[in-house]
Amino acid sequence: MMIMEIDLSLIGMEKGRQYETIITTKNTDNTFNAAPIGVICSGPDVIVIRIFKGSHTLDNIIENREFIVNITYDPELFAVSTLQNLPQDSFDEDMTLNDADAYFKCEVISLIEAVKQSDPIKKKDEAIVIKSKVTELVINKNTKAFNRGFSYVIESLTNFSRFDNVSDAQKEDYLNKFREAYRVVKKVGRIDDIKAMKEIKKELESKGYDL
Ligand SMILES: Cc1cc2nc3c(=O)[nH]c(=O)nc-3n(C[C@H](O)[C@H](O)[C@H](O)COP(=O)(O)O)c2cc1C
Repeated sequence: MMIMEIDLSLIGMEKGRQYETIITTKNTDNTFNAAPIGVICSGPDVIVIRIFKGSHTLDNIIENREFIVNITYDPELFAVSTLQNLPQDSFDEDMTLNDADAYFKCEVISLIEAVKQSDPIKKKDEAIVIKSKVTELVINKNTKAFNRGFSYVIESLTNFSRFDNVSDAQKEDYLNKFREAYRVVKKVGRIDDIKAMKEIKKELESKGYDL
């Protein structure tokens, strides 16, 4: 375990981009809770998260004004913490996930009610935007926080490479998938992911498709 200077770029986080993490918090009965949450990097030691009302994570953060952001590539941790509850033996005493590749501790700077227009969930006052300061960064093994952009690039390229050999209906399906992928990557992806998606878009447009 290495306690690092606090600089989120050490775990590959670019300013303004969003990374998929598992946030752990303390419940009122002193047990721990885990939930996947997208974390936007706002600088070397500042992050922003947006959490929909009704989650334990939001209630716990409002109550304690602190939380842990865990970096992991374990699909089971993401699945169980979304679909059920992680068992308590998944956590260390300090509220971190015991299998995390890295983690950082956060303290709340501000909580603001907000709903972004681009969001699929459009009801007003449904989410809280939480700006937080990172107070400790621990890297257990060399890792980078997970960004959805690269997955979309690979998925879009796979579909593109099959494009000329599929039916019109399948082409339409691929184009719709690409439109959604492009929207998400522009919003959350890293600079290089966005660049790659623009290249794919250009190729599809040169085939005469309107994106
Ligand atoms: C990859 C991923 C990212 C997510 N990001 C967010 C997010 O940024 N904000 C949010 O409110 N919910 C997000 N969710 C949904 C929550 O994790 C989900 O509602 C969870 O069940 C909340 O659990 P809790 O009630 O224990 O806090 C995300 C889910 C996944 C799978």
